[in-house]
Amino acid sequence: MEFSIDHIGIAVKSLATAKSIYETLGLRVSAEETVAHEQVRLVMVPVGESRLELLEPTSEDSTIAKFIAKRGEGLHHVCLRVPDLTATVGRLKKEGVRLVSEEIKTGAGGHKYVFLHPSSTGGVLLELVQK
Ligand code: CO
Repeated sequence: MEFSIDHIGIAVKSLATAKSIYETLGLRVSAEETVAHEQVRLVMVPVGESRLELLEPTSEDSTIAKFIAKRGEGLHHVCLRVPDLTATVGRLKKEGVRLVSEEIKTGAGGHKYVFLHPSSTGGVLLELVQK
C-alpha cells in the first residue's frame, strides 16, 4: 500500500449548507455520521481517488467550533494515508515531531489515526490514517 491523500478536512457551520455546492457540482455526498468523541458531524464527498470531509461541530467547545470561532469556516486539515501508522508514529516521535495527542485513536469506521501539530508541519494540521 502506498501513500495517498486520503481526504481534505473542511470546517463548516452547517453541513446542510456546505454540502449543497458539491451536490450542485454533481458529486455524490455520503450520509451524515457523528463522531461523538470528536464532537463533530461529518459527510464525505468522494472526488476521484480522494475525498473532501465536511466537519460541523456538535458542541460549542469542540475543536471544530473553536476553529470556526477563531478563523471562520474553511480548510482545517490534510489527511495522508500511510502504509504503517504505528511504525510511522514511532519514527515521528523519535524525530521530536509534535503530535496533537500522543496515542493513536480509532475513528468511526474502525480506522486508526493521529494528528500532527501545525508547529511541526509548516502550519498545516496533518492527519495520518491507516485503513
Ligand atoms: Co479528517
